[in-house]
Amino acid sequence: MAKNKKVLVLHGPNLNLLGKRQPEIYGRLTLDQINRKIQAVAKELGVKVEIRQSNHEGELLTWIQESPTQFGAIVINAGAYTHSSVALRDALVDARIPAIEVHLSNIYKREEFRKRSLISEAVVGQISGFGVHSYLLALRAAVEYI
Ligand code: DQA
Repeated sequence: MAKNKKVLVLHGPNLNLLGKRQPEIYGRLTLDQINRKIQAVAKELGVKVEIRQSNHEGELLTWIQESPTQFGAIVINAGAYTHSSVALRDALVDARIPAIEVHLSNIYKREEFRKRSLISEAVVGQISGFGVHSYLLALRAAVEYI
C-alpha cells in the first residue's frame, strides 16, 4: 500500500495500562479495545494503520525518525512525554509529515504541569478530552492531511 495511505499511531508511556489505570480519568477501555476501534475506523476510511506502544522515549523517537519513508501521517499520544520531551518535539519537526496530537483526557482541565505540551508546536493540531474518540477524530484528521 502507498505510504500516503498509511498512518502510524503511537501510544506513549503507561498507555499499556489503560483499562485499569485511573479509569475515572482515562476510561475503562483497554489499549487493545482502543486499538480495535482505531482499526475499524481505518477500514472505514480505506487506510492502513500501524499501531505501536512504548514506555521508552528512545524507541518512540526511532519510530518517528523512521516514519517518513513508510507513513503519510502520525497520530501520537505521547503520554507524560508530552510535557517533558524536547527530543520528541524535535523528532516530529524533523519528520516533516503531518502529525496529530491526541489525549484521552482534557489536559487543560487537570494539573498545571499538564497544561503545557512541548509537542504542540510540532503537530498540525491537538485533540484532547474525548476519550477513545480523541484517537478516532485524530485519525480522520490525519487522513485529511495526507
Ligand atoms: C494523556 C495525558 C498525559 O498528561 C498523561 O501523562 C498520560 C495520558 C492522555 O491521554 O490524557 O499519560 O496523554
